[in-house]
Amino acid sequence: MGISLSSLIYPYFVAEGKNKKQRIRSFPGVFRFSIDRLLVDIKETAGLGIRKILLFGIPECKDNIGSGAYQDKNIVARAVKKIKEEFPGLIVMTDVCLCAYTNHGHCGVLKIRSRSIDNVKTLDVLSKIALLHAKAGADWVAPSAMAKGQVGAIRKALDKNGFGQTRIMGYSAKFASNFYGPFRNAAHSAPKFGDRRLYQLDYSRPQAALKEIEDDIKEGADIVMVKPALSYLDLISRAKEKFSYPLAAYNVSGEYSMVKFGARQGLWDEKNLVIEIITSIKRAGADYIITYHAKDIARWLNVGTGFKPVPTDNARRFNEVK
Ligand code: PBG
Repeated sequence: MGISLSSLIYPYFVAEGKNKKQRIRSFPGVFRFSIDRLLVDIKETAGLGIRKILLFGIPECKDNIGSGAYQDKNIVARAVKKIKEEFPGLIVMTDVCLCAYTNHGHCGVLKIRSRSIDNVKTLDVLSKIALLHAKAGADWVAPSAMAKGQVGAIRKALDKNGFGQTRIMGYSAKFASNFYGPFRNAAHSAPKFGDRRLYQLDYSRPQAALKEIEDDIKEGADIVMVKPALSYLDLISRAKEKFSYPLAAYNVSGEYSMVKFGARQGLWDEKNLVIEIITSIKRAGADYIITYHAKDIARWLNVGTGFKPVPTDNARRFNEVK
C-alpha cells in the first residue's frame, strides 16, 4: 500500500512581520512564517509535489471575541491572496477557529459572566471568518471550533454570498486530546482557564464521535475528519465503513513531535517509522492525511524516482471530491 502525495495535506503557520521563519522548540521542523518567507517555503513544497496546504493564522492582537479573525487585514486572508496569486494550482485550505484570536484562548465566543460557549454568536463569527477566507481565494475552509452546527452555518453563509464552489472540510470528530501541545505552542492558543472538554469530544465515547460525523455530512461537509489519528485508528476505520464518505485524518502535532524527538535520540529510523505510521492511517481508511511529515515524505518518495510533480490536474480532481 503506497503513499501518494496527492493524499497529503501540509499545515503551515503564518504570522505578522517580514523575513520571519521562527523555530518552535517543541515542534522540530515546523516554523512560524511571515507571508514573504511562507511563499518561499511553499515554492519548495509545491516543487516536491505536495498540492494541498492547510493554513493557520497567528495574529498579533487578541480580544475577547476574536474579532481579528474576520477583519479584512486578517493575516490568513492576506496570505491566501498572495499564495493564490503565485500558485494558482495549489489547493489552499484554511482553518476556521477562534482560539488563536481570543485572549482567553477558547475556540468560540464566551457567554458574558459564565464560562461557557455562546453557540449562536460563535456560529456568526465562524461564518464571517469562512466568508473572508473564501473571498481571499481559499478553495476549502475547515472549521475546527467544534461549535454545534458550524458546518451548516458556514455552508449557508458561503452559498448566500456566491461562494457555492468553496468546499468545507469539517473537523467532525475532534477529540479533547493531550496530543495538541506543540500546536498550541506554535499558535499561542492554549486556553487560559478550563479546558476544551466543554466542546471537544470525549475519547471514551465512540458513538458520539460517529454521530458528529453523520451530522457534518448532513450539514454539507465535503470531507469529514477524525482527529487525532494514531490513537483513533479504530474510529477512522469505523467512520469509513459506516459512511463511505471522503475522510481525512489529522496526524497531529504531538504525534509528530514524538517521532521527531525519538529519532533525535536514536530510538528509531525516522523515515521507516513515518512510512509505517502514515500507511497505518491510510490502511484504517483515511483518504486524506494532514501531516507535518508531508514534506519529508515527499523528499523520501522523490529520491531516485525522477518524480515530476503534476500541477493543476490533481488540484482539480481534489476539488471534485464529492
Ligand atoms: C484549533 C486547532 C487545534 C489543532 C488544530 N486546530 C488545537 C486545539 O484544539 O487546541 C491541533 C492540531 C495539532 O495538534 O496539530 N482549534
